[in-house]
Amino acid sequence: MQNSSIEIRILELRGWIDYHNYRYYALDDPEISDAEYDEMFRELQRLEEERPDLIAPESPTQRVGSTPVGELKKIARSLPMLSLSNAMDEAEIREFDARIKRFLMLDSDVNIEYVCEPKFDGLAVELIYEQGIFTLGATRGDGIVGEDVTHTIRTIHSLPLRLHSESPVTGKPNPIPERLEVRGEAIMLIADFQALNRRQSAKDERIFANPRNAAAGSLRQLDPKTTVDRPLTLFCYHIGAATGLTFKSHLELADQLQAWGFLTPDPRDSASGIESVIRLHQKLERMRDQLPFEIDGTVIKVNDIGLQRRLSQTSRNPRWAVAAKFPPRQMTTVIENITVQVGRTGVLTPVAELKPVEVGGATVRRATLHNQDEIDKKDVRVGDRVIVQRAGDVIPEIVKVIESKRLVDSQPYRLPRLCPVCESPVVQDQDQAARRCSNVSCPAVIANSIKHFIHRHAMDIDGMGDKIVYQLLDAGLIQSAADLYQITFESLIKLDRFAEKSAKNLLAAIHKSKKTTLWRLIHALGLPSVGETTSRLLADHFRTLPAVRAATTEELAEIDGIGPIVAKSIAQFFTVDANALLIDKLLAVGIDCEGSGQNRPRNVGKFSGMTFVLTGALSGMSRKESKSRVQAMGGKVTSSVSRKTTVVIAGEKPGSKLKKAKNLGIDVWNENRFMEEIKN
Ligand code: IVH
Repeated sequence: MQNSSIEIRILELRGWIDYHNYRYYALDDPEISDAEYDEMFRELQRLEEERPDLIAPESPTQRVGSTPVGELKKIARSLPMLSLSNAMDEAEIREFDARIKRFLMLDSDVNIEYVCEPKFDGLAVELIYEQGIFTLGATRGDGIVGEDVTHTIRTIHSLPLRLHSESPVTGKPNPIPERLEVRGEAIMLIADFQALNRRQSAKDERIFANPRNAAAGSLRQLDPKTTVDRPLTLFCYHIGAATGLTFKSHLELADQLQAWGFLTPDPRDSASGIESVIRLHQKLERMRDQLPFEIDGTVIKVNDIGLQRRLSQTSRNPRWAVAAKFPPRQMTTVIENITVQVGRTGVLTPVAELKPVEVGGATVRRATLHNQDEIDKKDVRVGDRVIVQRAGDVIPEIVKVIESKRLVDSQPYRLPRLCPVCESPVVQDQDQAARRCSNVSCPAVIANSIKHFIHRHAMDIDGMGDKIVYQLLDAGLIQSAADLYQITFESLIKLDRFAEKSAKNLLAAIHKSKKTTLWRLIHALGLPSVGETTSRLLADHFRTLPAVRAATTEELAEIDGIGPIVAKSIAQFFTVDANALLIDKLLAVGIDCEGSGQNRPRNVGKFSGMTFVLTGALSGMSRKESKSRVQAMGGKVTSSVSRKTTVVIAGEKPGSKLKKAKNLGIDVWNENRFMEEIKN
């Protein structure tokens, strides 16, 4: 064959193979036999061997490429990959609809058009296409930092390596954007999962608890050949940036994804008004067991993209979509014992030790009983037969006791009066269900605080696990997290299982953790009720540790995502001497979380550096929406007028803020001016 005709034949074969691959994997409707497909594939392989200069990453022969060395590369995003807020029952679905109407200032009887899709129970991924060619695949990770899994994602047959130039279904030509970001979910079909476990069991190897775990394991492999043996399927449901393209509705966007060759959510139905949406949700739940993959709810999305834009997002979730969860799956089992754990804040948590039981595909052995009030309410006793469920399909919990099966000699359960770890008296805080150990130096409190401090999601001290924490505590080398930074090589090398290299490595990791980000440090301090998300909110808002420390309850409560109770407990935390001392010690040893450049930048835009105060009502927009618009364009919104205020936006019936603004000579915009400024 002549050189130019080889080139043409290669392109032709790639086109045909992509097309038949799509018919087979995406449409489940092949037009040729497996043998004919294999023949085409082998011909392409042969020609590419003859002309290796023509091999391209998007060729179907290149799905299984080389193995990256070391570990998966981290991918940092400038904009976070959001997750969805949940609606746990029908009332919460109605509340979602009501919230949208309040935000948009629509009458409550208006019917919004929604799209309902399955909520896939897999791993969220992001795919990047440049000039129509797949160039990067990443996991969601914590939203900001994901992992590069391009090499394993490529092996997924339902992923187009190149966007189809025309729709395989309608034949219409497709636009090919310069850059396209696609969001989807990598899942393992139930049949593939069962076959995988059969193979694993035959080889006497690890059995996966559920398809989701198996999918996670498969996607995060270094060797793409392992992913081929643990086959995944990819459903795509959202587009991030798409150069030069706009869509009017979610349905249009989903159709475009399908035309490019992606597998899209099926069923995908639209409905007008929330009551019809609820009926679709119920219908999907009835179909749940017939679907070839696991789903854990319905994703409800506003169809109109114009409305989606106006609704925008909070720091965590889009306001235009919600994940309506199905009631979790339940099973019965027996409580064999109740044990008590003492956490980092000294709170005693009773835990039911269960006769192991399979719930929704995972083995459940323990369930939290929360606190004494919860035990009293449900009257949970050792020996009881109980119904357990996995709430939100993760943390197992006891739903109720089956009293008819209760043993005649059973006794109500009471938490111990003395701490099970240090035997100090247990106390109960006013107005709170929690009981806690009264000893601030309880070994369990100290150990758990330090374990929390070093955790991957806090200071991230590499290679330091719980065992080492206990070893250092037992040896008297540390009494608090700050002491970690004073440990010397000489004292470490004397300990069991430490050699020169391991001691040096640990000290290096401890030293490295000094340079960190503000949210990690806040999280590491272990404030009650402050997890990773709240830590990020605080860091984003206040920017420096002194500013967080100085914040009042009111200022804290003004942050979107922080409620009054958590605000109060944050402010209180910093007034406790022991906490202040720990922070001072940490700063003294040189913990540096400023200028790390990793704190997420605020939105930048036309209003960057400007501070706004809103007063009175705007006729075309709710207060929340106007605030969110200002913030989206980089502006800051505060509640009272001062010399620092740049602009006061005054609507109908403005209050004293307008007067104050005029007195201070601050710029005042009316509604028309504001609308002008935010155009585009
Ligand atoms: S749309 C901007 N649609 O469920 C976010 N998500 O928190 C757009 N998920 O992280 C997401 N099925 O990864 C969307 N049909 C579906 C989905 C879906 C599953 C995931 C998503 C999200 C998580 C919920």
